[in-house]
Amino acid sequence: SGAELAALVAGASVDVPDFPQPGVVFKDLMPLFADGAVFRQVIDGIVAHHGAGSFDVVAGVEARGFVVAAAIAYATGAGVVPIRKAGKLPRKVLSASYALEYGEATIEVHEDAFIAGQRVLVVDDVLATGGTAAAAMDLVERAGGTVSGFSVLLELGFLPGREKLSPRTVHALLTV
Ligand code: PRP
Repeated sequence: SGAELAALVAGASVDVPDFPQPGVVFKDLMPLFADGAVFRQVIDGIVAHHGAGSFDVVAGVEARGFVVAAAIAYATGAGVVPIRKAGKLPRKVLSASYALEYGEATIEVHEDAFIAGQRVLVVDDVLATGGTAAAAMDLVERAGGTVSGFSVLLELGFLPGREKLSPRTVHALLTV
């Protein structure tokens, strides 16, 4: 159930105060990834929410989004498209810059990453300000994909990420 999944995420995340800078409480989901039973239930929960046939490709945002995207893709037979930090992809890219909770960032995707109209499930581990997610979905659509859904394991409800992404809907297993 949704409540069980939320409890799993709550139980497997660790708050790290003052990382990566003073005043920021970093939500570390590595313990969730490291627990095989929890990881599988979380991935299955995301797949069940969207429906395995509702997307063709899963796009994950570097770095922890890669872990989530690859697992969902393998479980459903979909492909994976990595959305990377600037300067990492070897071929022609599309870029999007945005303000982060801490600092500024640019992410990129190969311009030919999607076949026109391909349905793309966008995933990441955490939704904070929403800057990363908004930029990722912008990149997917500029590259010719259609965003079919968006999921995160953990949403920081005290930040306006969800509002920033409106009218797109956010699926979060846990909101704190
Ligand atoms: C974190 C997280 C999301 C993003 C969320 O990534 O994994 O990608 O921040 O923040 P936002 O909603 O405010 O944009 P981080 O920048 O720490 O990168 P990493 O996964 O490569 O460590």
